Formats: sequence, C-alpha cells, structure tokens
Amino acid sequence: MYVVTGATGQLGRLVVEGLLAKVPASEVAVAVRSAEKAADLAARGVAVRVVDYDEPETLAGAFAAGDRVLLISGSEVGRRIPQHRAVVDAAKAAGVALLAYTSILGAATFRLADEHKATEELILASGLPYAFLRNGWYTENYLGDAAGTVARGVVLGSAGDGRIATAPRGDYADAAVAVLTGEGAGHENAVYELSGDAAWSLSELAAELAQASGKPVAHRDVAPAEHLAALVGAGLPEGFAEVLVDVDAGIARGELAGTPGDLARLIGRPTVPLAESVRTALSS
Ligand SMILES: NC(=O)c1ccc[n+]([C@@H]2O[C@H](COP(=O)([O-])OP(=O)(O)OC[C@H]3O[C@@H](n4cnc5c(N)ncnc54)[C@H](OP(=O)(O)O)[C@@H]3O)[C@@H](O)[C@H]2O)c1
Repeated sequence: MYVVTGATGQLGRLVVEGLLAKVPASEVAVAVRSAEKAADLAARGVAVRVVDYDEPETLAGAFAAGDRVLLISGSEVGRRIPQHRAVVDAAKAAGVALLAYTSILGAATFRLADEHKATEELILASGLPYAFLRNGWYTENYLGDAAGTVARGVVLGSAGDGRIATAPRGDYADAAVAVLTGEGAGHENAVYELSGDAAWSLSELAAELAQASGKPVAHRDVAPAEHLAALVGAGLPEGFAEVLVDVDAGIARGELAGTPGDLARLIGRPTVPLAESVRTALSS
C-alpha cells in the first residue's frame, strides 16, 4: 500500500490525487486526524486510518510491512520532533518498505529547519529505507492573498535581494508521487533538493504582480524589527511571525535560492514558473 499522512492538508490532497491517477484506489491509504475530512477519499475506495501524531498509540495500526509511506511534516512548529518520532517509531515497528519525508532544503540554517533536520536524524537512526524530499518554498507562500498584495501595492519583507527558488505545491506533490511509486529507480536512501527551476527576488515578485494586474506594486525591504511588527499587526501570532522573519534572514543569506534541478528531473517537466502562478492566483 501507498500510505500518505497529512493527506487532508493542502500538499497531501495533491499527493493523493497524483497517486489515484497512477494506481488503483485499493492500493492507497491515508493516515489522517479526521475521518470526516477524508470521507470523500473513503468514498473513492481509499483506506482511511485515523491517527494523531500527538497520540503514538493511534499510529500502531497505521502502517503495515511493505508499505511505501509518505510522512508529511506536521504543521505545529515546536511540536514536530516528538510528533515525527512517533510516526517513525510506528513505521519501524511495522517494517515499511520506504519512508519518504517532506523535509527542507539542506542549505537552510534558519530555525524552522531545525525540526526537519532532527526528523531526518530520527529516520536515519531507524534504519528504514528512506527518501528525503527536501522541499524548498511553496510559491503559494507569497500568493495566498495575491489580490490583497496588489490592492496594498506593497510586497513587504526583510529578505533584501535574497532569491527564492519556489515551486507550487503541485510540483512538490508530483515529486512525492514519483518517489512513492518508484518511477525511475534508485529512490531508496536518496536525498532530493527540491526547488523551482528559477529563483526570484521579492522585487521581481512585485514586478510580476504589477505586470499581471496592471497596477503598481513595489517591493519594500525593511529591517527585521519592522517586518516583525508588520506581521504581528496583520494578525500573526508573535512566535510564528518571529519564525518568518528568521526565514527572511535565511533567504537574504541565499539559503532558499538553490536551483539544482532535482525537482524538474523527478517530475519529468519544468517546474511551474512564478509568472504563471501569479496569473493563476490573480485570476482565481
Ligand atoms: N515548503 C513550504 O513552503 C512549506 C510551507 C508551509 C508548511 N510546510 C510544511 O509542509 C507541510 C505540508 O504543507 P501543507 O501546505 O499541506 O500544510 P497543511 O495544509 O497545514 O497540512 C498539514 C497536514 O498535517 C496534518 N497534521 C497536523 N498536525 C497533525 C497531527 N498532530 N496528527 C496528524 N496529522 C496532523 C494536518 O491535518 P488536518 O488536515 O487534520 O489539519 C494537515 O493534513 C506542513 O505541515 C509543514 O510542515 C512547508
């Protein structure tokens, strides 16, 4: 079986759709917190296993020997090491054939990367066959409120001229599907540095938004303290805002700029360019 955790999340849903396009539903299972959220998948013949990373006992029956498992990292920053340890322990106890994990680019040294690096260590220590899908940034991180950004006319950040090689979630999902289903050989114990084919700066993002909308959009680079105040002012919890400002410092250092081409090679096509994602975001 192919088993996807976090399958009711944004990336997970795309991975499951990709799997269902390639293999029968009877070969796909999801390990999710809410059976209700996965009811549509159950109706299509996908096995639904209810688990919570916070409750290790719920993970006991989640996997079986020979499963090819995708662990999608949890969304609660600060809690993810014990959560992921519980999943790795359950996968080890079951004897899965592959544990793929949505990690972060190897160059990342900002705080958000710490839990991913610790999880990779846990997986290595388990002795299970693994694949590290070291995901770069999602393009959607910058386009979730594209219309709002255009209305305000400002792309605000503290990353300076740092470049970001993003790709949309759909590209990362396709890569996960390729690895799970074993397209191309040699995914066991492989490390993939997944990023978009081209890196761009926040000034270039502002220019793309301006061009696609026909309205003025400028990049405004600010000091970290001002960036933090703006994020908190926009309603983000202070702890998470601090994490994002720290990421921008990493972007300024070039840590999300690498374009090794692993993602395009895995999915067998170029990654979706920023300009296309901008057009899609503004037309939706
Ligand atoms: N590369 C990037 O730019 C980037 C950006 C943001 C996040 N991420 C990481 O990538 C992951 C996937 O991204 P996404 O956009 O799909 O995030 P998402 O939509 O927030 O999905 C996270 C998934 O994790 C599940 N989950 C959270 N806590 C859990 C728990 N205790 N037990 C079981 N499942 C749990 C959620 O379940 P529910 O559906 O029940 O909520 C959800 O399905 C995130 O969780 C985060 O680690 C990466």
